[in-house]
Amino acid sequence: MGIDMNVERFAGIRTPFYYYDTNILRQTLDAINTEIKKHDNYFVHYAVKANANLKVLQVINEAGLGIDCVSGGEIEQVLKAGFPANKIVFAGVGKSDWEIELGLDKDIFCFNVESIPELEVINEIATRKGKVATVCFRINPNVGAHTHANITTGLAENKFGIDMQDMEKVISLAQSMKNVQFKGLHFHIGSQILEMDDFIALAHRINDLQDRLEAQGIHLEIINVGGGLGVDYKDPQNNPIPNFKDYFAVYEQHLKVRPGQTVHFELGRAVVAQCGALITKVLYVKENAIKKFAIVDAGFTELIRPALYDAHHKIINLNSKEADGKYDVVGPICESSDTFDKDILLPKTHRGDLLALLSAGAYGEIMASGYNCRRLPEGYTSEELK
Ligand code: LLP
Repeated sequence: MGIDMNVERFAGIRTPFYYYDTNILRQTLDAINTEIKKHDNYFVHYAVKANANLKVLQVINEAGLGIDCVSGGEIEQVLKAGFPANKIVFAGVGKSDWEIELGLDKDIFCFNVESIPELEVINEIATRKGKVATVCFRINPNVGAHTHANITTGLAENKFGIDMQDMEKVISLAQSMKNVQFKGLHFHIGSQILEMDDFIALAHRINDLQDRLEAQGIHLEIINVGGGLGVDYKDPQNNPIPNFKDYFAVYEQHLKVRPGQTVHFELGRAVVAQCGALITKVLYVKENAIKKFAIVDAGFTELIRPALYDAHHKIINLNSKEADGKYDVVGPICESSDTFDKDILLPKTHRGDLLALLSAGAYGEIMASGYNCRRLPEGYTSEELK
């Protein structure tokens, strides 16, 4: 049901590496398309920050999704993967001039603008190029999300977006500029959100803001609600496809959409998390008076989520079926935070066994680093490793 991990496939491949099951990815994309096809004005832009592996991107492009970028590098990567530029939304609090130029040169769908100084620079560069930039404003809705503090973005204390109280001011400034065209509003409250009430609160906030703008004769063409839908990290094998039905139903039921308006979503994690696993080899099993450590060849250089967000990725041993024992699964990096999990039950584990860290398709390979001069991991799809 979940990710297919026939261990024979992995013979001869240098560990650690990322493995992507394209069947799971395609089923996930089908589940999204089934929901959004119920509405002719819903568009999903996959948030490429979650995973920019070229082969993964190609499958997502085949499914017809648009794309959400936060850097010039991401724009270059998605164009290479074949995404049409007119499906790109471009967000980020700190867009460099060259990145804005790239967006304008490629005629992307929309810039999600996060400040007045940024708006001024976009207008200036667009004027120089004789172009008109389509812009939405990212509004900070001051809506909390029940998730880890490091991945909460929609509170007034966060650096993202423009304050609600400044909304009219920035819109009228944009309307006075010749080389930008104001089209709508953008929001994003956080990531790994499983409580639909958080999205309901966002929808209500958007309704209030729309009413306020409408009273002043301001009409929005685009409403972009961002991403954030979470996945089941505890039981990915039995629950590989996120609950898209309930997620889209929230907006269908709670967001008051005006005629002619389009609604945009920027899902990242929910699209790719469950199709990916980090495959790592056990180097040593070490025991002391109180603990047994499985020391593996992957570390936080390959998967930083446990160290950075206290995240738990389910770990399975692909080789052993012997009776269980408790292990700390740790990497080779010279820091104590290089621990994937503590006191977890695993079958008796030996040097040479392959372990899989599940639900690692999102914010895994893409967040890898070269700390300790380690090599960046490769990523392979199930189609390549038949
Ligand atoms: N849109 C915007 C404006 C965002 O900032 C993000 C994620 C997304 C969409 C996609 O959110 P998603 O659907 O994936 O939740 N590295 C962290 C997650 C950081 C998310 C940052 N922004 C992690 O590993 O949990």
